[in-house]
Amino acid sequence: MRLVLLGYMASGKSSIGKKLSKTLNISFIDLDDYIVDKEKMSITTIFKEKGEIYFRNIEHRYLKEILEKDEDCILSLGGGTPCYANNMELINNSDSISIYLQGSVPTMVKRLIKKKAKRPLIASLGDNKIPEFVAKHLFERRFFYEQAKMTFKIDGKKKSEVADEIYNILN
Ligand code: S3P
Repeated sequence: MRLVLLGYMASGKSSIGKKLSKTLNISFIDLDDYIVDKEKMSITTIFKEKGEIYFRNIEHRYLKEILEKDEDCILSLGGGTPCYANNMELINNSDSISIYLQGSVPTMVKRLIKKKAKRPLIASLGDNKIPEFVAKHLFERRFFYEQAKMTFKIDGKKKSEVADEIYNILN
């Protein structure tokens, strides 16, 4: 079984993925960490020195590499992964269960204001600019996120609750 977790920045993809990998006893891969490992550079440095287009190209390449391994795992994507190249199609045609962790704009704004620093797309925005940015961005990205096979709502829930919900449904 391979689970692919997707959703906006700060939706809990990595934390929930790690929790599920423990309960299900399946290995865990975080696509951003995989990229950092392979490129030997932080995501922030890749964006700064090579630009976003380069990042989207390697993100697509490494996603394919992981999917082609055809091994059981929980894979947490980056927030933008589903929205570039034919990534959603690749995922959904790869015998994986894609899961959208869906949060409302206010939830994502609240979380992101606390966790801006490591996210190059929003790091330089003032806190007062985040709500409009997130609203527009989620509006554009929903189309891709909604192609996931399953959706779980995260508003007002702890990460462990969401992980339990996913676990219960899969069992
Ligand atoms: C991005 C999200 C990030 C990372 C990169 C771009 C995005 O991952 O891949 O900064 O386009 O939403 P997280 O969703 O883990 O923050």
